[in-house]
Amino acid sequence: MKIAIGNDHGAVELKQHLVKYLEGRGCEVVNFGTDTTDSTDYPIYAARVAKAVVSGDCDKGVLICGTGLGISMAANKIKGVRCAVCTEPVSTRLARQHNDANIVALGARIIGNVMAEAIVDAFLTTEFEGGRHQRRVDMIMALGEGKAVE
Ligand code: RB5
Repeated sequence: MKIAIGNDHGAVELKQHLVKYLEGRGCEVVNFGTDTTDSTDYPIYAARVAKAVVSGDCDKGVLICGTGLGISMAANKIKGVRCAVCTEPVSTRLARQHNDANIVALGARIIGNVMAEAIVDAFLTTEFEGGRHQRRVDMIMALGEGKAVE
């Protein structure tokens, strides 16, 4: 599996940890993030990872900033992205099963390395259930195109 990863200055250490972790699990990892702690702007990295995933160049994406919030908000502005901020594996599994999330966002100032590993594992190993959830995901994407859903 080819994973796009991106981060701002608040998440360099966790990003570097996850790159090694994912490579150890046999993933190909493309690093779109910063590797210095110089202050930078998270929308840059959200856009890079979002485009890599939506274009099909990468299978899934991992985004990390201080909280996971800003970088997920930015990614969700890109058509085709369903980015979920996750702080534990249960909601991560549901973000895949019900929402077909294609990017997970993590907060490096919120969670530790071991929790981040568990979240990434859940994200990469859980399949979308489809069925009634497909209709709702289609509605989410329609909203992104300015269409009415009722
Ligand atoms: C950067 O200081 C911080 O605002 C950013 O990493 C993130 O937490 C924003 O949502």
